[in-house]
Amino acid sequence: MTNSWDFGVLDELSLVEKKIRQSVVSEEPLLTDIATYVIAAGGKRIRPTVTLLSFKALGGKDAREAVNLAAALELIHSATLIHDDINDGGEMRRGRPAAYKKYGLQNALVTGDFLFVKAFGIGGQFDGDIVELTAGACAALAEGEIRQKRHAFDTSVTKDEYVDIIRRKTALPIMAGAKIAGLLAGARLEDVDAVGDYGLYLGIAFQIVDDILDVIGDGARLGKPAGTDLKEGNVTLPAIYALNDGLQVDTVELARILRAPRKENGDIESALSVLRSSGAVDKAWADARAYGEMAKQSIASLPPSEAKLNMLRLVDFVLTRDR
Ligand code: IPE
Ligand code: IPE
Ligand code: MG
Ligand code: MG
Repeated sequence: MTNSWDFGVLDELSLVEKKIRQSVVSEEPLLTDIATYVIAAGGKRIRPTVTLLSFKALGGKDAREAVNLAAALELIHSATLIHDDINDGGEMRRGRPAAYKKYGLQNALVTGDFLFVKAFGIGGQFDGDIVELTAGACAALAEGEIRQKRHAFDTSVTKDEYVDIIRRKTALPIMAGAKIAGLLAGARLEDVDAVGDYGLYLGIAFQIVDDILDVIGDGARLGKPAGTDLKEGNVTLPAIYALNDGLQVDTVELARILRAPRKENGDIESALSVLRSSGAVDKAWADARAYGEMAKQSIASLPPSEAKLNMLRLVDFVLTRDR
């Protein structure tokens, strides 16, 4: 999977790539192999893109430090994905068998830890406030994942609880990357907050779209199978709407499938088709667009620049993506 989108930071992204590849070299070749297996499979590199664009939009000049931090954040993201697939029983990732499927559970777990540590090796060289933001993002991520597990198979989960989960597991780390960029650029506090809010709302929109694509997406395009949330009992926004919003849905049957720890033959397909045809997905799209609009509004006060334009384009990309 290659990243074919151009948001005006391709040169910096290739430096990020270089930094990441250098960071995962270990005396233990298996660690390097597993880490490279995950990283070389590509990915959209949304998080480093947000960091680099925020840096530029706030007038940052020498991007070297932003590149290093963007690499650290992408390392954290890759670590998370390795662990997330173990937690979620995700079988494919970035078009390849998930790391734990190919290399075994223990090796994958340790490689995730290795990537976290490598990220902190880079991030720890910066000022205390940057280290704190990075650590805070990792803690939020862990909290989000645990909270999600607590609500697994829980059909009474509310929209507010759902938003709280995705805010922690996805949006706060993206927000941290944007704020760090602002600090590195030496921007005014209100501008740091502006790009932070942009990251927050973009992140929420991004995860809502991820959850929609888990219902309507094409596994081959996504590089990971659709229907995983249903299978694992993650009750996401489309399901919350289908269960609670008075749509033409057999809610008893849908709730039965969502709650079943082991699905029967045809359950997943039948629940997916209910979600697809109920109007629940459209409602979730409307929310994603509303958060996307909030992301755009958050940076309205920034001076015009090419980077700012690309931040706005990135919102549209997130809202129209199919992978
Ligand atoms: C996957 O993130 C995990 C979510 C927060 C939805 P991405 O969709 O950004 O994954 P890659 O990096 O592009 O593979
Ligand atoms: C995002 O959620 C996971 C993290 C931010 C750790 P998902 O579990 O929906 O991500 P995918 O769909 O497996 O990529
Ligand atoms: Mg997952
Ligand atoms: Mg998902």
